[in-house]
Formats: sequence, structure tokens, C-alpha cells
Amino acid sequence: VTEALGSRSLTGRCVMVTAGPTREPVDPVRYLGNRSSGKTGFAIAAAARRAGARVILVAGPVNLATPPGVERVDVQTAEEMRYAVHAWVGACDLFVGTAAVADYRPAEPAAGKVKRDGEGRTLSLVPNPDILAEVAARPKPPLTMGFAAETGDVEANARAKLASKGIDLVVANEVGEGKGFDTDDNTVTVLWEGGRRRLGPAPKTELARELVALAAARLDGTLQ
Ligand code: CTP
Ligand code: CA
Repeated sequence: VTEALGSRSLTGRCVMVTAGPTREPVDPVRYLGNRSSGKTGFAIAAAARRAGARVILVAGPVNLATPPGVERVDVQTAEEMRYAVHAWVGACDLFVGTAAVADYRPAEPAAGKVKRDGEGRTLSLVPNPDILAEVAARPKPPLTMGFAAETGDVEANARAKLASKGIDLVVANEVGEGKGFDTDDNTVTVLWEGGRRRLGPAPKTELARELVALAAARLDGTLQ
């Protein structure tokens, strides 16, 4: 993997990356969201671009600059992310899902601001589409890499996602106290059918380069 780092290993390839959180409206002024910073996805988009790929970055609301040469599509909700992904992913060789897509959205967002009335209330939620699984289920899918932020038996939970989502590679990421979310350093394990590789601890930018090199090797059929 390391030898390929400096090379233009993705020249002529198209890479799509999803990044950041999604925001699911509750009413016109409120939403359900999460703490994803988007750093991992932006770092992967930058690394893929440096490796020579055309890069399409589908980003939820984040506070990050677009990496040089990267085409960016901004979205808010999971449904918008899904729409943007399917609009452009047909041209891509590699899909990297780093977005922290909200698993649920309010069933019926209120048309007007919900007013305080001193009573308790219940918010009814419906499941969002699994964008990564949908990409993997396309007729001619790109190589698919997912991220699994897990606690407990991190590797077993992540490996289960390989099968349940039908994806090629999963990056297992332990979350909790100072790990994973909103941090610069990270340790991950990449899992695929019949293989695994541990990467880090390293800054997200370095890990991103190694993940891109690994995916490039898999695309070229040289991953061992
Ligand atoms: N993902 C996605 N669309 C969703 C949910 C997740 O594309 N609606 C992608 C994420 O971008 C990530 C991978 O699926 O690459 C795993 O996300 P994760 O939240 O760990 O998996 P879930 O299937 O949502 O399972 P859970 O949250 O229950 O662990
Ligand atoms: Ca989830």
C-alpha cells in the first residue's frame, strides 16, 4: 500500500465520496443531526484527487473548504444525498461512504414552527434509505467502501456490514471517548472478504492516503 502512495494510482478513474452529517427537518427552524465533522470524507476526497481521480464529493452541512480540484455537491437531508449520489455515481469506479447519514427522519416535519406548550411530546420517526447499500445494489456498482463507527466488538460489527450492505470494503472505526468523531488522529481496520489490514494511529489525512491507495490496489486487482 505504502509504495503506491506517491503515485497517480487513480488516473482516469472517478471517485465519489459522501461526507458529513445529514440534517432531517423537524420544523422550519429545527432538525435532527449528528456530530460528524466531515473531516474523514474531505481528506479522502483530497487524497483521491491527488492520486489523479475525478472526484465528486457529496457533502452534508460541514464547515470545511472544498479540496482543490474536487467537484462538490452540497446537500442537507439523507433524501437529498441519495438523489445526488444516484445522479452521478453511474460514472464512478469507486464509491466511498463516509457520511453519517441520519438513520431516521421525522415522519411529518411541521410546516410551521412548533410552539412550546409546557407538555411533553413524542416525535415520530421513519427510516431513511441506506445510500451505501443502494449503491452496492446498482446493476453495475462501483467498488464500494463503507465506514462503520462501532463500539463493543468493533470488527465483528463492521464485518457484518460487509454482508448486510453487500459492499466490498469496510473501514472499522472505534468510537467513544475522544475516538472517531471530531478528532484528527485515528486508528482503523479495513476488512474485506478474506482479508484485513490495520492502519494507524495516524492523522486523518495520512489514513486517507492509505485508504485511497488500498482501494486503488483493489480496483487494479493488486490488493493482497
Ligand atoms: N450509510 C448510508 N446510508 C444510511 C446509513 C449509513 O450510506 N442511511 C453508510 C455510511 O455512510 C457508512 C455505512 O453506511 O459508510 C455504515 O454506516 P453505519 O451508520 O455504521 O451503519 P448502519 O447501517 O446505519 O447501522 P447502525 O447505525 O445501526 O450501526
Ligand atoms: Ca447508522
